[in-house]
Amino acid sequence: MFEQYSNENLPNLKEMVAKNYDNVNPDEEPAVHGVGVLTSGGDAPGMNATIRAVVRAGTKAGFKMMGVTRGYHGLWKGEIKELGHRDVSETLQRGGTFLMTARSKSWETPEGVLKGAKNCEVFGIDCMIVIGGDGSYRGARDLARLGIPVIGIPGTIDNDIASTDYTIGYDTAMNTAMEAIDKLRDTASSHERCSVIEVMGRHAGYIALNVGIATGAELILLPEVPWDIKDVIRTILDGRNRGKRHYIVIVAEGAGNATDIAKQIEEATEIESRPTILGHLQRGGSPSLRDRTMASLMGIHAIECIQQKKLNRLIVYKHGEISDVDIEEGLSMSKNINMDDVERSKLLS
Ligand code: F6P
Repeated sequence: MFEQYSNENLPNLKEMVAKNYDNVNPDEEPAVHGVGVLTSGGDAPGMNATIRAVVRAGTKAGFKMMGVTRGYHGLWKGEIKELGHRDVSETLQRGGTFLMTARSKSWETPEGVLKGAKNCEVFGIDCMIVIGGDGSYRGARDLARLGIPVIGIPGTIDNDIASTDYTIGYDTAMNTAMEAIDKLRDTASSHERCSVIEVMGRHAGYIALNVGIATGAELILLPEVPWDIKDVIRTILDGRNRGKRHYIVIVAEGAGNATDIAKQIEEATEIESRPTILGHLQRGGSPSLRDRTMASLMGIHAIECIQQKKLNRLIVYKHGEISDVDIEEGLSMSKNINMDDVERSKLLS
């Protein structure tokens, strides 16, 4: 086992468990033979395609590929098995993650992380590929701090990972939401109603903003931008005065509650209003072309990093290219919604 990572702020977790973990040898050269892969946090369309890519590129590069089920929880429990080329057949087009995923409680204590790291040793995993969002990356960093090198691949429908412009699953989720909203517009139009649609995004409004632009929403409510119900009502009334007969309001889940907003609109305007929460529908489905391609190329890039001994990296899509950044650097970055696009979105409604 090797100590590949060092950071002055890190040792806490390590110190707490060091007495139980005596195999770390800072002088040992990284030598990767076994590569683990897990999916963690909320699933996203394209995770299967990512697993397929890392398993196929990894076995071709001569690594022994090990699949961990149920994310960090499975790592903690030792639910790990070898994956070969044929084990990932017929997965490219499937939604979800066949390795399954979890938001793991077992990873919340240093002892839990230590057990996971020890299981890496037991199962011969010299490097772990983690497919997930920022929370999953923080879990990966915990492993890195214990000497298990990691590679992160961005997989979340929210597109809210700061280090990358694109996350696997985002395109499919937006297309799913767009198709659903087009259908809701049909019925809103027939009944001259206001349709208030809640899309996913607890902390980030990327889905809401882009889907709102793509579906011609009157209003797009985002967690990043303060809003007032009075302005929402005024915009709808202005629309009615201009001859509009139906209305689409998109609200990101982190910005408000569709049911409350619809009720307030109906009470203030007497326009019949109906809430729809798209919810987990947005997380399912066969990945789009963009997600399959991103998943495949990012998965290959992850294996290339390991071959080049570039460890503790996050795979990113920046300036139109797939590349990688140091995990600490990536986790310290911040990402903001494009406020110009927020303003532009108001011009077309
Ligand atoms: O992180 C992806 C996401 O789909 C968010 O948009 C949403 O807030 C959250 O996961 C929902 O999580 P869960 O499936 O645990 O309810």
